[in-house]
Amino acid sequence: MDALGLLLHDHDVLTSHVEHVAGLVAMVGSRAEPDMGLIGELLRQTELLRDALMQHFGFEEESAFPTLREMMPVLAAEIDMLYSGHDQISEAVAVFERSLRDAKRADRRAEILAGYEGFSTSYHAHVADESRILTKVADAMSPTARWDFAERTKAHL
Ligand SMILES: [Fe+2]
Ligand SMILES: [Fe+2]
Repeated sequence: MDALGLLLHDHDVLTSHVEHVAGLVAMVGSRAEPDMGLIGELLRQTELLRDALMQHFGFEEESAFPTLREMMPVLAAEIDMLYSGHDQISEAVAVFERSLRDAKRADRRAEILAGYEGFSTSYHAHVADESRILTKVADAMSPTARWDFAERTKAHL
C-alpha cells in the first residue's frame, strides 16, 4: 500500500477506535448509577483516540495536504476545506474529555452522552468529506504522481 492508500486506510483504523469508544459510551449510558471504573476506561480510550487523531491531523496538515495542494492545484479549494474539520473535531473531543474528567465530581452522564454525540458527528462528517476528496485525488493521480507523493511525504510519516 502506498502513502495515499495508507492515508485512507488510517481512517478505517481511527473509525474502529471511535466505534470502541461509542460502545463504552453506550455502556455508561445504560447503567443505573455512574460506574467510575467504566468512565475511567472511557477516558483512557478517549485520550488514546485523541492522540491518534492529533498525529493523523498533524501529518495531513504539515505534509500531505500542502503536497497534494501543490501537485493538484485544481483541487486546492476542496483540500483547504478539510482543515476546518480538524479544528471542529479537536474542539469537540476536548469538550467530551472535559465531561469525562468532571464525572469524578458529579453524575455527568448526560454531558458525556452529548459530548460524545458532538464529537462523533464532527468526526464522521469530516471522514466522509475527506475520504471523498482523497478518492478523487487518487483517481486523478498517475502511478508516477502517487510515487512522487509518497517520496515527498515520507519524511513526515
Ligand atoms: Fe484523514
Ligand atoms: Fe483530516
